[in-house]
Amino acid sequence: METIRVIYEGKVCELPVIVGTEGEKAIDISRLRQTTGLITLDPGFGNTGSCTSAITFMDGEKGILRYRGIPVEELAEHSIFTETAYLLIHGVLPTRQQLNQFSVLLNDNSLIHEDMQFFFQNFPRASHPMGIVSAMVTALRSFYPELKINDEEEINLTVTRLLSKIRTLAAMSYKISRGHKVIYPRPDLTYCANFLNMMFDNPVRPYCIDDTLVNALNVFWILHADHEQNCSTSTVRMVGSGRVNLYAAISAGIAALWGPLHGGANQAVIEMLEKIHREGANVRDVILRAKDKNDPFRLMGFGHRVYKTYDPRAKIMKKMCDSVLQKLKIHDPLLDIARQLEETALTDAYFIDHHLYPNVDFYSGIVLRAMGIPTNMFTVMFAIGRLPGWIAQWKESRDDPDWRLSRPRQIYVGPAQTHYLPIDRRH
Ligand code: CMC
Repeated sequence: METIRVIYEGKVCELPVIVGTEGEKAIDISRLRQTTGLITLDPGFGNTGSCTSAITFMDGEKGILRYRGIPVEELAEHSIFTETAYLLIHGVLPTRQQLNQFSVLLNDNSLIHEDMQFFFQNFPRASHPMGIVSAMVTALRSFYPELKINDEEEINLTVTRLLSKIRTLAAMSYKISRGHKVIYPRPDLTYCANFLNMMFDNPVRPYCIDDTLVNALNVFWILHADHEQNCSTSTVRMVGSGRVNLYAAISAGIAALWGPLHGGANQAVIEMLEKIHREGANVRDVILRAKDKNDPFRLMGFGHRVYKTYDPRAKIMKKMCDSVLQKLKIHDPLLDIARQLEETALTDAYFIDHHLYPNVDFYSGIVLRAMGIPTNMFTVMFAIGRLPGWIAQWKESRDDPDWRLSRPRQIYVGPAQTHYLPIDRRH
């Protein structure tokens, strides 16, 4: 095994180099402090691997994303969301029988305890759905029995329950926020069709399920299903490392996803495009603002911590956006603006030098708008899609023999020891 030798103050530490399946390498520093007294410092964790994982592979330089070894492009073309969820959680593609059983289980667990509806009623109308969904997922823990962490069957039941109920909770929160009657899940509909129906069916205008939109939703959720150790997934793993119940760990992940630099970017992109449209702003001026270091504005939906080339999910999303709008004969002026922004940015020296390309969120909002999803629900859509990944990562960390409480260290730079001063002696 290759090692790296660290010599510090006469102490020698041989650090093993760990090699992943695709040849990526890491220095295992787990014995560094014990041997040398040193820790590492890596704000934002850009150089830190928090775990080994067999779930998702991404290569940010080449624009590769694979779930359990399968390219996301193949899954987007051939799979459906529930099958991809099974793949991520169980590690293999299901047989027909396993997929059928999974669908039956999802259907059996799709209802929400009726008392949970009272919770929804008491949120102020203007509440952001991400806050509501995060709170409701934590609340699920009170309605459904404690998960026995070592009982595989019970874990599978909890996992399926969560996957199924989050979709019902999300649709219910939307209906209640509109003051509309809640629509229950139907056993004859697939996962995605059921969600759309729960969102948009109403007693006076039955919802017509459109295969183009059902297919688009499958692809949208497949593209979001996992993305290795991003901010929310790391949150799920970290919170989970304290051995909290699965609901609490997922709820923390939802809260982490909410931010505009992470999952909240899909909402921020549409708000940015709408503002440009409303104000009739010139695309070149928008790009100038994004480059101006004295202006906090950033081009939302552009850039990524890992991808230094076109995000492979964005490529699929862009194609899907074009085809959905074409099939539904929708002309969305925001798509024209997005295209112009992309064209201008991709030929601009700043964007080229900084390796800034569209990410998954750049075109996704336009697809969601075509489905009729309101802007403030966009990040909830991301969260439903990311749930299988969070669950798979939580399961993997739980099964890891090296699973320890996550507890980073720090370098303290505050005052050296000082003493308490009584209040009348302070100025
Ligand atoms: N517009 C303008 N400049 C940018 C942008 C942008 N969207 N993104 C990065 N930069 C610049 C940044 O100003 C910095 O420039 P300099 O080195 O000259 O100071 C450089 O690029 C590196 O930026 P960073 O913030 O250090 O890079 P990061 O890896 O920490 O940030 C990011 C990644 C996604 C937070 C960032 O690109 C960004 O804020 N993008 C916009 C928000 C967005 O679309 N987020 C969704 C990410 S994809 C969904 C998900 O997986 O969560």
